Amino acid sequence: MTASDRDNELIDAAIAVRERAYAPYSKFHVGAAIRDEVGRLHIGANVENAAYPQGQCAEASAIGAMIAAGGRRITEIAVAGGGDGLCTPCGGCRQRIREFAATDLRIHICGPEGHRESFAFGSLLPQSFGPDNLD
Ligand code: THU
Repeated sequence: MTASDRDNELIDAAIAVRERAYAPYSKFHVGAAIRDEVGRLHIGANVENAAYPQGQCAEASAIGAMIAAGGRRITEIAVAGGGDGLCTPCGGCRQRIREFAATDLRIHICGPEGHRESFAFGSLLPQSFGPDNLD
């Protein structure tokens, strides 16, 4: 994937909202940005809690914002974390994304400095369980 194939507005939004994360315990700030089926952008950051298990990932925050705005499909997503590694979504967030995404969804992983690597969502959650299973 070349730079021109990427949605740079989406990537910039994930990096920007990462700055507003509430992560006083882990100090690991994460931002997520979603493009929905009508092209709107939705953002979210991780929100930690003194009762640690009550913390919420950035992806969950962004999905909540999309749903609140009326969006129902994720057409592209960017996640921005810190550190040297790739901040790919945790297992729980892969399943959360799955609810609203096709296997060919592009997921862009970023750091504070910019884009790092992109994946097809299906490669991150192969043979997944989703809404179709309940038909
Ligand atoms: N985190 C996310 O927000 N998204 C991910 O995909 C990975 C982890 C958050 C959860 C917690 O607030 C912090 O990063 C450290 O795990």
